[in-house]
Amino acid sequence: MLSGRTTLSKFVIEHTRGQHSELGALLVDVAAAVKSISALVGKGALSGFAGLAAATNVQGEAQKKIDVLANEAILSHCEWGGQLAGMVSEEMEAAYRIPDDYPRGRYLLLFDPLDGSSNSDVNVSVGSIFSILSRPAAGDAADADFLRPGSEQVAAGYAIYGPATMLVLSVGSGTHGFTLDRESGNFILTHPDIRVPAETREFAINTSNERFWEAPVQRYVAECKAGRSGVRGVDFNMRWIASMVAEVHRILMRGGIFMYPKDHRDPARPGRLRLLYEANPMAMLIEQAGGAASTGRGRILDVEPETLHQRVPVILGSRDEVERVERYHREFDTGTDRPFVSPLFAERSLFRD
Ligand code: F6P
Repeated sequence: MLSGRTTLSKFVIEHTRGQHSELGALLVDVAAAVKSISALVGKGALSGFAGLAAATNVQGEAQKKIDVLANEAILSHCEWGGQLAGMVSEEMEAAYRIPDDYPRGRYLLLFDPLDGSSNSDVNVSVGSIFSILSRPAAGDAADADFLRPGSEQVAAGYAIYGPATMLVLSVGSGTHGFTLDRESGNFILTHPDIRVPAETREFAINTSNERFWEAPVQRYVAECKAGRSGVRGVDFNMRWIASMVAEVHRILMRGGIFMYPKDHRDPARPGRLRLLYEANPMAMLIEQAGGAASTGRGRILDVEPETLHQRVPVILGSRDEVERVERYHREFDTGTDRPFVSPLFAERSLFRD
């Protein structure tokens, strides 16, 4: 009955044949790491790993024991195979050098081992996010090798540890979802060629930060909240899980827009999310599914990285909505935005879109 289903291994072998066969082997190792993190996360409080580790991570954020264990799971599953030239993790300040015992390859793995981990204490979905780049030749990677725009990613994906564990992946030819069959231990292709609907009526943003946002984002959210009585003429729904993986997953499944925009809380931090191992892989997955991913002022995948842990504003999801938010930024930057708080924008406004 179960034979004939496409496993992740079969899929990656078929989609990375020829010169990229090492990429297939690397993805199989990533999937093995994800399965062990899934088992750990799935134990919940029974794992005994709830609570904080001793340290804070490179972001200055409290590091949980489970963050540390997830990080170790990815390092140990992926360092030995000879495909990698180095790794970068949210949990490590410096790039990780492949131990001397193992051969070096040409690929670079960049990852957030457990995104949204504050949610694991409250049994809400969390995830792992990864991005894969390649260097021209095998050998130890320097920091500069990792500082490549997201458009050069050869693969990207995330695992979501929810009621079911899923791995969502792109190797540059669409975005595909695999569900972990806990009985056989295989990831099975259940969501081939995912498409994000171009239109949506659902937005996700942490509105407690509203006073720090720039005017174009305030305008967009005000219009969504005004719903049927405002310029959009239609009611919107809002969601905020505070777990980017869960948010992006929902958008891939049924559309929507997710925003963690630029704000002025701390001028040294132009956004909250990290470019190399959060924004870039999610942007690739969303674009490969027909959506759009922007900083508000340009395509995320075109941002030239300057540092390993750099942050970036993120606006991604259904294409029409992302393009609208980009337009609001353009109109603001050129001084041509209209006073969106004006009562003239009510139901019968001359300016209604
Ligand atoms: O990695 C950062 C993260 O946990 C994301 O998964 C999530 O979208 C965001 O932070 C939530 O931020 P906040 O707590 O500010 O809502």
